[in-house]
Amino acid sequence: MVAFTIRPARLADAEALCALHKDAVRRLCLGAYTAEEIEAWLREREPAGFRHAMTKGGETMLVAERDGAVAGFASIKGTVLFALYVDPASGRGAGQVLLQAAEDEVRQTGAAVLSLQSTLNAVPFYRKHGYMRQARSTVRRGGRDLAVLEMIKALP
Ligand SMILES: CC(C)(COP(=O)(O)OP(=O)(O)OC[C@H]1O[C@@H](n2cnc3c(N)ncnc32)[C@H](O)[C@@H]1OP(=O)(O)O)[C@@H](O)C(=O)NCCC(=O)NCCS
Repeated sequence: MVAFTIRPARLADAEALCALHKDAVRRLCLGAYTAEEIEAWLREREPAGFRHAMTKGGETMLVAERDGAVAGFASIKGTVLFALYVDPASGRGAGQVLLQAAEDEVRQTGAAVLSLQSTLNAVPFYRKHGYMRQARSTVRRGGRDLAVLEMIKALP
């Protein structure tokens, strides 16, 4: 089993996180979304957005490292999981480690639930980890409405 180390994200990670995010979406979400939807989704993604999320945006970002390199990341704000992405080449397996770390982080604040808007490709992954489907919804990305599923888990 591959060992991943979890640590808080740093501002200096922004370039790597942005590149990983784009790679993960292009390679792991294709099929659930069209190529046009994916490129619209990624059009406005820049490292500056990740730096903003970590500072003024108030998101807590966690990074999974493998052999000293970024292999995935998760982002939470309050009781919402905003993002969970792994490097398609080196990060497979980091998803469940990051999800566990995000749940631990939320639990430490005294909160009892974690909710998220799952991409359609990731629904089986979240279901496997105890998340329940709530409703279909959409998120606006690059002028397109992308289908997602609202999911929630009561944290034990
Ligand atoms: C969703 C994602 C984070 C999962 O990360 P991962 O590292 O591949 O997942 P893991 O290997 O930790 O998966 C844990 C388990 O879930 C299963 N699983 C993972 N993705 C799955 C999928 N799409 N469908 C069904 N099962 C899946 C794995 O087989 C594994 O099962 P096992 O423990 O029995 O072997 C990753 O595929 C990803 O980055 N996808 C693109 C971005 C995305 O859609 N993120 C979600 C945004 S809401």
